[in-house]
Order: sequence, then structure tokens, then C-alpha cells
Amino acid sequence: MCGIVGYVGKRDATPVLVEGLHRLEYRGYDSAGLAVVHRGRLQVTKTAGRVADLRAKVQPATKSTIGIGHTRWATHGEPNEVNAHPHTDTAGRIAVVHNGIIENAEQLRDQLTAAGVKLVSDTDTEALAHMIAAEIAADPTLSLSEATCRTLNRVEGAYGLVVLDTKRPDQLVVARNGSPIVLGIGESEMYVASDVAALVRYTRQVVYLEDGEVATLHSGDYQTKTLTDNGAPAAARAPMIVDAEAGDYELGTYPDYMSKEIHEQPEAIRRALRGRLDERFATARLGGINLDARELRSIRQVKFLGCGSAYYAGQMGAAIIEELARIPADAEPASEFRYRSPVVDPDTLYVAVSQSGETSDTLMAVQELKRKGGQVIGTVNVVGSAISRETGHGILLHAGPEVAVASTKALTNMAVNFALLGLLLGRVRDLSAASGDRIVNGLRNLPAQVADILATQTEIAAVAHLYAAADHMFFIGRVRGWPVAREGAQKLKEISYVHAEAYQAGELKHGPLALIQPEMPSVVVIPSDDLVAKNLSTIEQIKARGGPVIALTSVHDLPDSAADAVIRVPRAEPELEPILLNIPLQIFAYHAAAKLGRDIDKPRNLAKSVTVE
Ligand code: F6R
Repeated sequence: MCGIVGYVGKRDATPVLVEGLHRLEYRGYDSAGLAVVHRGRLQVTKTAGRVADLRAKVQPATKSTIGIGHTRWATHGEPNEVNAHPHTDTAGRIAVVHNGIIENAEQLRDQLTAAGVKLVSDTDTEALAHMIAAEIAADPTLSLSEATCRTLNRVEGAYGLVVLDTKRPDQLVVARNGSPIVLGIGESEMYVASDVAALVRYTRQVVYLEDGEVATLHSGDYQTKTLTDNGAPAAARAPMIVDAEAGDYELGTYPDYMSKEIHEQPEAIRRALRGRLDERFATARLGGINLDARELRSIRQVKFLGCGSAYYAGQMGAAIIEELARIPADAEPASEFRYRSPVVDPDTLYVAVSQSGETSDTLMAVQELKRKGGQVIGTVNVVGSAISRETGHGILLHAGPEVAVASTKALTNMAVNFALLGLLLGRVRDLSAASGDRIVNGLRNLPAQVADILATQTEIAAVAHLYAAADHMFFIGRVRGWPVAREGAQKLKEISYVHAEAYQAGELKHGPLALIQPEMPSVVVIPSDDLVAKNLSTIEQIKARGGPVIALTSVHDLPDSAADAVIRVPRAEPELEPILLNIPLQIFAYHAAAKLGRDIDKPRNLAKSVTVE
């Protein structure tokens, strides 16, 4: 959610900033801007459009070796050029880029106005630039870092920010509180970004800033200190080597990232399984969760917490765990959990689920759990992210970088990892070795089965094209098919803007059936389980009211005549079938959106990684 990039070193900063912003655009894309110091003056370029527009606008002749940039997802103020970052003080000396939300912004803006400052934008960020400038004006001996700390000590809210002072063109000051910031260490140059995606082209040596830390970057070094602890130096941390390369973020031959990420799923699943299947004992190896057999046995319940698709993945996980381990399991949106004063049970294993590892609601839920003594592990994709650091242990998703706003391979890897967790919890309980073996083999077969589904893309696309013009669609499932239906509806609505609603099959007759008519197609999910007959009768109920039906099924002898269109997936072990059934719905949403001419990787109003409430 919003992207930040900064550079100080020996290169021409502008292309570095523009390239970094291009890599971060998936985090926010309603406006963009950058500031560099050129001949001792601040040169700011902004656009209400995309990074490509910014690239066309920047001065190619500017040779500056320091600068900051930002791509925005609006929170305070509409997305226009004035509200785009960087923001400056009145004299144009200080420039600030900021992610997050300053909660007492109104109060701070009022104080500035009362002091005679004329604010030009509607943003919370602009206040920071004026406040830092005012601190320096009041005491010119202050370092930029001290002036920033004094300002931040008056600020409530979340931020990741970078400050540039035209009068000190050899340094950037960076601060973090609740919004990710990572420093990149180059050879006599330093980078800063909100996400490693902006850095990997230049360096893989990084340091993640902790909440409450402020860093001063010079080309050759950096110093960190704590904001609260009277500016004491922060604990030194050895740089990490990022496990991603610039190529991981390239599109290659794909038209967009969503298509690339859908097609990367067989390999992503292989990565998730690598070293984690224990054939000898027919179980899973998940060393990262740091729980021995006795501790695993003492877990009486599992609860998944995540947002959006991560929540639906948690629902898939809960179903698998109940089936394999026979302990109660459920999922709840982290955004609800954090606000409802939850009863935290010491014998429950809480699983925080997040691709980005930065989703604010999920992070807050983890913090609430820890405060109440809950036992929580993380399942995240981004190494070093806030949730992975906050939980300390868990399961890495190993999906590889996910850039498209709509989650595909990360969600699949969540479900695969939950199957591993279910297997592990089951095998320390009553799941027999034979059943464990069955699941191990079933997991091993998944990559090839997903590849088989991907090979039917043209047929799925044809069905999607047929129904893309619908204004509304239902996604119907029951039991194992229910989270699949929810995620299918989510994917369709977020990238195609077709209104899609998921319903449990049994609930249809209690109200929503009233909506069925020829203009309302329904996707009905039919796994190969004991409920096939029930699902077929759901189809009949819909057909009887004139509703078109797309059946999505692993049942091989389901005749083509059973529905208006039938999308088929291979049979898997029953507990694992939701993982396969979900894939065609990604492809369906993708092709419906493509047919409607949508911007697939950057759907309107959304951003990857929601680091604000
Ligand atoms: C849907 C989607 C979102 C995310 C949600 C959680 O395709 O991408 O619903 O799943 O914002 O994000 P993470 O997993 O990063 O916590």
C-alpha cells in the first residue's frame, strides 16, 4: 500500500527512483512523484497518473545523486497531483515521502495553520514536511535526524517515511512505525524502499528497520537509533541476503503478472513441498513452527486469522485440519478478530495468514494475541515482513514474489502448507500411517495436476467469455466447496468488477434463490465427496428457475448435460481437492476481466498489501 523508494550514492538518482517506483507500483498506483536535489535546489516531479507518466515527465538532464520517490494509494485527499508525494515545506527545503496514516493529522494541520503556515495539499504527510522544517528553523544546529525525531514524537499513527533536506544533500533520514521500510546496502551507495522489489535489481543485501527506529543514510554507511529511547543507538543487525532476484519480478513472455503467477503455481507448490514431506513416517516436516510432538498434541483447536483471500485460504486450512487431525478448526477475518476483544484460549494454535506479511489488520490481531498470551505462528510469503518477525516462528509459503494485486499462487501455497500442517497434527494424533501416506502422495501429485488444469486454460477462457457480460454471479459450494466458492467470487469481483456473491448451497433456498433468473449465472462447485447428489440437486433448483449453471467439478462421470458448461479438474485426495478446484476459478476471473478490458494487475481502488486500517 503505497511504495517508497530513496537513493543516496554516486549514480544518477532519477532513473534509480523511477525504476524502483515501477517495481513498487503494484502497492499503489493512483499517483506518483519524486524529488531530487539539483544544483542545490529541490526538483519535484509529480503526476496524477501512473509511474509511466512520471517517467515521461522527469527531467532527463538532471544529474542528482540523492532523491526520494513515491507511488500512492490515496488515504488522505483525492488522488491528484497536489496530493501526490513528495510533500515539501513552504520554502521547498524539506521533502517527505510517507506510507501509513497520521491519526492526529487534523490537529497537526490546524496547529500549522494557526502558526501561519499555508498547507497546499489535503494530506497528512505535508504536515510532517512543515514540522521538520520548523524544528530546523527553531534550532539550526539540529541534525536532520533530530529534527525528524522531534517531529515524530508529536505524531500519532503509522508511518514509513523518508526525509530529504536540500541543505544536506549527502543524507536521507528514514523512520518506521507500523509501515515497512527496508534499507538496501550497495557499494558506496544506500537505498531505501518499502519493499525489496524496488531493491533487488541493485542489491540483495538488506536491513529491515524495526518499528520505532530512525536511520540516517549516507552513501557509505548508515546509523540507526530508537525514536523513544531518547535517541539511543538501535541494536545492530547483520544485513540479510534477500532470496529473490531481479528476474523474479520480470514479466518474461507473460502479458501481465496475474497470468505469470497463475502459471507459476506448479513450481510454487513444488517449492512449498521441498524438504517438507517425510515419507518414512508419512508426515510433514515443519521445523519453522518450533513445536515438538508433545506440544503439537496439546493443541486442542486451530484458528486461522487473515484478510480477504488469506482468510478464505484459512477456511480451506480449517477444513483440512479438522479432517486430518480431527480437532476443531476455524477461520476468522483478522480485521474482526482484532476489534472484538477475543477470548484467547491458551490451548489454541492461532495461525496468522498473510502473503505480504504486512497487512495491518492481521498484524494487529497477532499483537493482540501475543498480549493475551496466545500461541501464534505466522504463515507468510515475504521473508522479514512484519508478521513473520512479530510471530517469530511459522511456515514460509515459498510462493516466490507475488506482484499482481489479486492473489493466486500465494493462496494456493497457503492451502498446501495448511495441508502439511494438518498432516503433521494428524500424525501426532490418530491419522494412520496409511492415511498419512495417502496425503503425502496426494500432495506430491498436486504440481502435475495443477499443470493439467493450466493446460485447459483455453476451454475455461471460452466459458469465462460466455458469461463475462453478466452483471451478477453466484458462486455456490458446500463443505469442501464452500471456501472455494468464496475465493472464486472474490477473484471475479476484484479484477473484473462483476458483482459476485458466494453462498452455501444449502442456504440458497432460504432467500437468495429469489435472485435466480436467466441473467444470473451460478458457478456450482462439486468436489468428489459424499455430497455430489446434494450438489446436483442444487443445480436442478437453479435450472428450474431459469438460472444458467457452470459446474466446476472433479467428478469424472458428471455428464456435460448436467449444466450449461462443465469445467473439470483431475481427482485428488478428497481433502486436497479444494486446492485444485480453486485454480479454474482464477483462470475464469482472469479471462472474464480480460474480456471486459480491465487492468488485471492493478484493479481499481485496490492495492497489494494493505498496511492501513
Ligand atoms: C485478493 C487479495 C486480498 C489479500 C488480502 C490479504 O486477491 O489479494 O484479499 O488476500 O488483502 O493480503 P495478505 O495476504 O498480504 O495479508
